[in-house]
Amino acid sequence: MRVLLAGGAGYIGAHTAVALIEAGHEAVVLDDLSNSSAVAVERVGRITGTTVPLVIGDAAEDAVVAAAFDDHGPFDAIVHLAAFKAVGESTQKPLEYYANNLGTTYALLRVGIARGIRSFLFSSTGTVYSDPADLPFTETSTTSIDLSNAYSKSKRMNEVVLEDVARVNPALSVTSLRYFNPVGAHPSGLIGEDPTGIPNNLMPYVARVAVGSLERVGIFGDDYDTPDGTGQRDYIHVVDLAAGHVAALENAQPGYDVFNLGTGSPVSVLELIAAFERASGRELPREVLPRRAGDVAATYCDPAKAQAELHWQATRTIDDACRDSWNWQSQNPAGYASA
Ligand code: UD1
Repeated sequence: MRVLLAGGAGYIGAHTAVALIEAGHEAVVLDDLSNSSAVAVERVGRITGTTVPLVIGDAAEDAVVAAAFDDHGPFDAIVHLAAFKAVGESTQKPLEYYANNLGTTYALLRVGIARGIRSFLFSSTGTVYSDPADLPFTETSTTSIDLSNAYSKSKRMNEVVLEDVARVNPALSVTSLRYFNPVGAHPSGLIGEDPTGIPNNLMPYVARVAVGSLERVGIFGDDYDTPDGTGQRDYIHVVDLAAGHVAALENAQPGYDVFNLGTGSPVSVLELIAAFERASGRELPREVLPRRAGDVAATYCDPAKAQAELHWQATRTIDDACRDSWNWQSQNPAGYASA
């Protein structure tokens, strides 16, 4: 397959590009580099021994997407990972988040369908599930659009759009992949997560404490109703997540479908910090802080549907993720800017 990866210079996109190429497919990256680096795309080339074309532009503009097809098409599939993703920022800039996160989908669908793609994969999130009584979440668990932030709402809104578009394009395969918490890095240490500014998410924050660029990990609450009182999440190694995209494309069926991509095993904040201490051989200073607004006690999925229908499952552990994340962070203490 020849695949257009919108947002392919980002954290999940770069790992997905590697997985596609290693599975024998061709990848072309379309990215505006607003929260990603061209260095990542060069390094995907280094890992795979290829040159990966990079089209720099806004995937929300039909003309940009059309030019990518003119210059690098035809494409069999589009993988859409081009979105703004900072949860806190999204509550302050809802219009920017809705315009970008939906606008990219509209343009990619309009142009992609006109140019005859067969499959469209969308990067969604496990935060669309809204009822903790449903844990572990299956694809039929209750979803809501009434979520705590514009980022999560934009993801659920996209799913609604995609389902309707699939209905009137019955030959097209449209798939939403609901990611749980992506962590880790490519074992080469060449690509990894490179958030701008102070990381919001736990794993990149812990990694920066380990390299010494941040002082201590703040634990957002230790009084949750969980075994050790800290929040539990379903951390999935980004290399497993990337393999999930390849499996979804290779097993794509006409119509709309949804798959959870997670491990199914909850890991607490304290367990993740302990795993990172083992991986780095460093003691990580920490302090307990109040709960973060909008956080839930626990979220994790039942990945059985992806296992049965995509023949995919996560195989890497939290220790693998911490080892690879440490390898990436210690080789690139300032991320791609270290290059
Ligand atoms: C967050 C987003 C979610 C997004 C996901 C991507 C929020 C509310 N949700 O999920 O929409 O899809 O990232 O991976 O931001 N924690 C600390 N200290 C920290 C950071 C986090 O204790 O410095 C705790 C949190 O309370 C939580 C766990 O670590 O229990 C994971 O947090 P985080 O990595 O931010 O992910 P989520 O909040 O699950």
